[in-house]
Amino acid sequence: MYQKSKKIKIGRNDPCPCGSGLKYKKCCMNKDGNSAETLQEKYFRDYNIRLKNPKDIEKIRNAGALVVDTLNMVADKLHPGMKTDEINTLVHEYTIANNAVPAPLHYHGFPKSVCVSVNEVICHGIPDELVLQEGDIVNVDITSILEGYYADASRTFFVGTPGPEAVKIVNVALESIKRGIKTVCPGNTIGDIGWAIQSYAEAQGCSVVREFVGHGVGFDFHEPPQVPHYGRKGKGVKLVPGMVFTIEPMVNLGKKDLRILSDGWTVVTRDKSLSAQFEQTILVTDDGYESLTPWVH
Ligand code: MF3
Ligand code: CO
Ligand code: CO
Repeated sequence: MYQKSKKIKIGRNDPCPCGSGLKYKKCCMNKDGNSAETLQEKYFRDYNIRLKNPKDIEKIRNAGALVVDTLNMVADKLHPGMKTDEINTLVHEYTIANNAVPAPLHYHGFPKSVCVSVNEVICHGIPDELVLQEGDIVNVDITSILEGYYADASRTFFVGTPGPEAVKIVNVALESIKRGIKTVCPGNTIGDIGWAIQSYAEAQGCSVVREFVGHGVGFDFHEPPQVPHYGRKGKGVKLVPGMVFTIEPMVNLGKKDLRILSDGWTVVTRDKSLSAQFEQTILVTDDGYESLTPWVH
């Protein structure tokens, strides 16, 4: 008979055994060579966030380049009179031809290969027989899986010549994402991103959708953390190198309230005002950020 030895575990919040009076986690917890916790381990344990290594990043960058090429291809072909389902065909075939998989297809039952959201549709529009009209705005949101890695990006395009409301909401959404992206650097927080977006968009008299948020991406379509497009400076998870997430503000010309249509997917503004969105996949680097889906605007 032997007694199983019990290792006494010191809790993170217990007083440090060195007698400093500090909590263990603030003191010796990570100073013991053997038990030193890597940032990867800490972010996974505390937040379920999987940081990406240089090999992963290269793969996501490749997927991102394909997403950007696909968006550019769609931009070239977009015209009044086109059905939104034709955009689906273009994206589906281009993705497959490039040895990739369109992530939306069959994702939680989504029936198409791309989200196409016109005018008052905020996001998750299902391509169908709808014909694009001169003056419409249309968001095309593309996520491709290349060699197992995901990248996610979208742009809102004008169909033909836009009217003043279309110009306004698209410009505000575009400036919102730019401001959000610019805040990304190690030491800043998720809340800083949301604050930059919300404070700008609301100052322009627009509103920011709350129910849909940015998200970690790369190994899967939607990973932790969530990245709200509203928030407060200094709040939320601290950004560290190797984090990869989307920033994808949905900005409405009217109120922020939304409704989901009976198809279970299409999200529209409750007040039927125009809504625009832009999205990029962003990597936190040692000294700032890199877009892994760098469309130029
Ligand atoms: N691409 C969207 C996003 O930015 C998600 C679409 S889910 C789908 O997160 F099922 F509608 F494709
Ligand atoms: Co997307
Ligand atoms: Co996304």
